[in-house]
Amino acid sequence: MSRTDAAGLRAAAARVAMAVLRDGRNLEEGLDAEPAAGRERATLQSLAYGTIRWFFELDACLALLTDRPPERLDPPVRCLLLVGLYQLAHGRTPAHAAVAETVEAVRVLGRPRASGLVNAVLRRFQRERDLLVQRAHRDPQARHAHPWWLIEAIRRDWNERAEAILESDNLHPPMWVRVNARRVDASAYRARLAEAGLDASPCAFAPEALRLAQPVDVRILPGFAEGDVSVQDAAAQLAPRLLALDAGMRVLDACAAPGGKACHVLELQPGLAELVAVDIDPGRATRIRDNLARLRLAASVKVGDATEPAGWWDGKPFDRILLDVPCSGTGVIRRHPDIKLLRRPADIPAFAARQQALLEAAWPMLVPGGRLVYASCSVLRAENAAVVEAFLAARPEAVEMTESARLFLPAPLPECGRGPGLALPTGAADTDGFYYACLDKRA
Ligand SMILES: C[S@@+](CC[C@H](N)C(=O)[O-])C[C@H]1O[C@@H](n2cnc3c(N)ncnc32)[C@H](O)[C@@H]1O
Repeated sequence: MSRTDAAGLRAAAARVAMAVLRDGRNLEEGLDAEPAAGRERATLQSLAYGTIRWFFELDACLALLTDRPPERLDPPVRCLLLVGLYQLAHGRTPAHAAVAETVEAVRVLGRPRASGLVNAVLRRFQRERDLLVQRAHRDPQARHAHPWWLIEAIRRDWNERAEAILESDNLHPPMWVRVNARRVDASAYRARLAEAGLDASPCAFAPEALRLAQPVDVRILPGFAEGDVSVQDAAAQLAPRLLALDAGMRVLDACAAPGGKACHVLELQPGLAELVAVDIDPGRATRIRDNLARLRLAASVKVGDATEPAGWWDGKPFDRILLDVPCSGTGVIRRHPDIKLLRRPADIPAFAARQQALLEAAWPMLVPGGRLVYASCSVLRAENAAVVEAFLAARPEAVEMTESARLFLPAPLPECGRGPGLALPTGAADTDGFYYACLDKRA
C-alpha cells in the first residue's frame, strides 16, 4: 500500500470515528459511507473499531498532550489524533510509519495547518507513552476504556466479576458458528472445517456451536451458501433447549429479526406445527426471510408490533414464546464497541420500560401450561432480572423455571450472575454476555 493510500485510510478512519463521536451514528453506518473494499475495507475497519474500542483511554491520553480539552479541538483533527494514538498504543503498524501516514492524512481531511500539531502530539506520545498511559489510567474511564456510568452499573450488578467483564469487552471477539443440525452434526462439520484448513473447538453446553480459531469471511465456511452453518455466538444458542420444544407445538418468536434463534428452533425441532416470526422492522424482517431461504426452513414471517398483537395475531394461543427483547447490547460490546459511546444512562430505564411492555403484551398469547423464554444480550440487571422480578410480582400465574430448565442443557454453564434467570457474563467460556429466564404459565 502506498503512503498516499495509507494516509487516505487514516483519514477515512477519522471520518468513521467522527460519525460515531459527533453524529451519533454506529460504526457500520460510518464504514458503509466510505468507498473502501476488500483488504482496504478490512484495514479501515480495524483502525475505526480499534479507535472506538479504546476511545476512553485514547481521549484521556490526548487530554494530557494538548493545551485545550479534546472536545474543543476541531472534530476531524481530534478524531485523526485518536486514530494516530490508537495505532501507537494498540496497533501493529510500525510507529514511524503510523506517525508519518497519520500526519499526511491531515491534507486528505482538508486540514493541512494541523500537520504540526498532529506530528508533535504523536511524537510526544511515542516518546512518553508509558508515563502518559499510566497517568491517564488513574481515571477508571480510561483504565477500563468504558464510560463511568457503565463501569458503575457493571460493578453494581456483578461485584467481583465486573473486572473480567470490562476486560472481555475490550478483546477481539471470537467467531462462533451454529451447525445446522438438520443437515450435518457438529463433529462432522468440524472435520470439514479441518479439511478446509480451519481449526475449531466445540462448546459443551451448546452442542451445535463451534468456535473458530480465527475469524474468517463466511463465504469461506464449507456449505455456508447451502445452509449447513450460520454465524451465531454460543450464548445465543441456548434458546431452543430452554424452550423445551416438542413436535406439534405452535411457537411465537416475537422479536425475531434477523432470525438467528428462529432458525435454530426450526433446525432442532422439525416437527413444529408452526413458527410465527414477528418483527417490527420491515427491513430486518426481510433478513429473516433470507436466512430461512438459505437454511431451507419455513416459518410464517410477519411485520408487526409485538405490543399490538391485534395487528397480526390470529387469536390462537402459542405453546412456546421466545421474547428476545431489544436492549442496550451491553453483552455484545466486544462486537460493537460503539455501544460504549452511543448509549446514555437514561437509555437503560427506557429499554426496561419497553421490555416490560413487550413481556406484558406477549404473556396473554401463551397457552396455560406453556412457556415463555425472555432473552436479552444485555449484562445489566435493570433489563434482565429486574424486569422479570417486576413481572413475577404482578403475575401470580407466572412461575420462574430457569433453574430446572438449565438442568436439561447438555453440560453445566459457566458461573452465572444472581437470579432470577441465567445471567451469563461476557467472556465466560468466550461467549457474549447474555440473559435468559424461563417463565411458565400455570395450567
Ligand atoms: C435482539 S433483536 C432479536 C434477535 C433475533 N431474535 C435473533 O436471534 O436473530 C430484537 C429485535 O426486536 C425487534 N423489535 C423491537 N421492538 C419490537 C416490537 N415492539 N415488536 C416486534 N419486534 C420488535 C427489533 O427490530 C429487533 O430486530
